[in-house]
Amino acid sequence: MAKSGSLFLCSSCGNEFSKWTGQCPACGEWNTLVEASGLVAPQRGSKPRRTTMTVPVRPRDVLADKSRLTFKTKITEFDRVLGPGLTAGGVYLLAGEPGIGKSTLLTQLTVQTASAGRVLYVCAEESPAQVATRIARISNEKYPNEHIFLLGTNVLEAVLETLNKPQAASDRFSLVIVDSIQTVTTSLADGQAGTPSQIRACTNLLSESAKATGTPMILVGHVTKAGTVAGPKLLEHMVDAVLQLEGDRHYDLRLLRGIKNRFGPTDETGLFRMTSSGLESITDPNAVFLDQSPKAAPGSAVSLIMEGTRPLTVEVQALCVPSELAIPRRVAQGIPLPRLQLICAILTKHLHLKLGSFDVFVNVTSGLNIREPAADLALALAIYSSYKNKPLPDKSVCIGELGLLGEIRPVPFLDKRLKQAKQLGFKQFFTPEAKSLKLIKL
Ligand code: TYD
Ligand code: MG
Repeated sequence: MAKSGSLFLCSSCGNEFSKWTGQCPACGEWNTLVEASGLVAPQRGSKPRRTTMTVPVRPRDVLADKSRLTFKTKITEFDRVLGPGLTAGGVYLLAGEPGIGKSTLLTQLTVQTASAGRVLYVCAEESPAQVATRIARISNEKYPNEHIFLLGTNVLEAVLETLNKPQAASDRFSLVIVDSIQTVTTSLADGQAGTPSQIRACTNLLSESAKATGTPMILVGHVTKAGTVAGPKLLEHMVDAVLQLEGDRHYDLRLLRGIKNRFGPTDETGLFRMTSSGLESITDPNAVFLDQSPKAAPGSAVSLIMEGTRPLTVEVQALCVPSELAIPRRVAQGIPLPRLQLICAILTKHLHLKLGSFDVFVNVTSGLNIREPAADLALALAIYSSYKNKPLPDKSVCIGELGLLGEIRPVPFLDKRLKQAKQLGFKQFFTPEAKSLKLIKL
């Protein structure tokens, strides 16, 4: 028998190496290589594994088989992110921090899909009793749909046995959910559940089964804030689509982003609100904002950011207070700190604000995280407004990226954002048309 060697996996990029190094030679991350001794690189001369499609087929024949097509989930915002819907044999990863609502969303999907087909929910993390209670609560039925099947195990072999059992076409599962991939284990790999070797082996085997049976499969993957070992980064390469559920647990807004999608677009974002009966699709994104529409006050500025293909109204708040520290504080929530530092530097240089002796705090309401530079102008004017203790004009919006020279740079989809702002009743617009921060009259 061939001697088996060790293998080291990078938990960040998923590449494998035969030797351990402090820094991953592929992605450059430090301390991400983890030994995966149970997973051994194929030996030369070893028999290749059989794959599922061993006979060439015509696209026409594949398309004629209805079970190989896609279906819509009928959860509006979920479908928006998926594009064509759930594809037969597709493996999807639903990633997110613990407690953000992944199981809730998948429970809703289970209930919805069970009205048309059989659903298998693998409860590897919670007990079937907990999942059943959630299903009953969300479906609002004492005895939920009989097409829902719960499998209470974290042993992968047991899951595969259920999935690969030859079944009559009418008994096939329309959807399989594995909650979560970090808690299932297989005897084919070493280590505890959640280690890179286990996650990789389990995902491979599940994916193979999904492709062979033509069942769409959704795997739940937890991410921690620190992005610890075997976060979905490793998984991203192995699945067909990655959907990320984001949000601030202290707020009810949740965003579902398509990070990777072999079957559809990745530029869409689904919006949900967490309610007592699960996640509710928000089809009109600006309703989120209008609920809590702010009065013009010093330190408040409104912008429109693009979430997927839709403009979303956000309020940026700033507070400038004289600092008692040698190095004044810069605290940002919902905006990257370097962006805040940069905007403070631009304001100091070009509008001559003495921010060096002020603490600056900024916050984005509704717990949103803004990554778009188009919100720069709103951030700058919110700080300016707090510093001068003077509100911005009533019903105004600020859209524009700031350059280091104090210039206001154009942003994509300006027309779309302005059209939306006008529909929402905004009257005054600070846009790249003003050219420079210095030329804005407040
Ligand atoms: P959960 O879906 O269990 O999170 P995850 O699977 O991502 O770890 O949901 C966690 C939170 O959601 C929990 O704090 C309770 C809350 N929640 C609601 O507010 N409404 C609901 O209908 C459900 C099921 C959960
Ligand atoms: Mg869960």
